[in-house]
Amino acid sequence: MNDKTIVITGGTTGIGFACAKYLIKVGYNVIITGRTKENLDNAVSKLGKNVFGILSDSSSLSDIEKLVLKVKNEFGNIDGLFVNAGIFKAMNFEGTSEDLFDETMNINFKGAFFTVQKFIPILKNPSSVVLNTSIVVFKAFADTSVYTASKAALESIAKVLNIELSDRGIRVNVVSPGVTQSPIQKKSGMTDEAINNLLEHFASTSPIGRIVQPSDIAPIVEFLLSDKSQVLRNEKIIIDGGTTM
Ligand SMILES: NC(=O)c1ccc[n+]([C@@H]2O[C@H](COP(=O)([O-])OP(=O)(O)OC[C@H]3O[C@@H](n4cnc5c(N)ncnc54)[C@H](OP(=O)(O)O)[C@@H]3O)[C@@H](O)[C@H]2O)c1
Repeated sequence: MNDKTIVITGGTTGIGFACAKYLIKVGYNVIITGRTKENLDNAVSKLGKNVFGILSDSSSLSDIEKLVLKVKNEFGNIDGLFVNAGIFKAMNFEGTSEDLFDETMNINFKGAFFTVQKFIPILKNPSSVVLNTSIVVFKAFADTSVYTASKAALESIAKVLNIELSDRGIRVNVVSPGVTQSPIQKKSGMTDEAINNLLEHFASTSPIGRIVQPSDIAPIVEFLLSDKSQVLRNEKIIIDGGTTM
């Protein structure tokens, strides 16, 4: 037990859930958020002890403010924040509607931006913030224009935060996963056939010979949240099995 408390936004499925599971296993207290009650309840019951679930839509500033207040009241100040909640909907550039633009930017960028901002008062000195971006920031994939923009925007603020928040002992680093098998593919609007082709392509062309799993990402996020990485600032760890090297 290391007695550290970490908040993971979007901890109900996929990467966030795997990170919660790993952190709990190695002794952290974990607070997970999600916007779907059923997923949140399922995740909390699967994770068992040392976990607390809070329903919170990360695209809503009032939800973020309520989340911070709830965390403060239940746990006091926290040791780290994994800004993970995000969506991806596959759509070509010409077909991207204003609604899809706003939905994606509001969750992946605006929500992430204000999540970090609103948590500042209850982040300990020292503490660690980890942003979940994506390899799309530096490698082009069709049908991802607004998603790519949202992740690039998020990644771009890490260096600014590291300057502005250094006096408070808050450091910010980034994980940049490659294609990782998770519920996000099903929610993307891609057909089952397209998802299978994508996963097969990345498994067969990857030096590791398989697709990255959420459980591969968890120990790396833990490293960035822990004191083991205390001198890292604005570091980006690409977790893609070497597919983009
Ligand atoms: N899988 C990949 O290939 C991949 C690659 C690079 C980066 N990423 C990033 O990794 C992060 C996690 O994705 P994943 O693959 O683990 O997908 P996932 O299984 O769909 O997980 C997404 C999580 O975010 C939550 N979430 C979505 N919108 C939310 C909102 N408005 N407010 C609160 N929670 C919200 C979901 O909760 P609900 O179920 O309640 O919506 C869920 O817990 C995302 O930021 C994604 O962009 C994924």
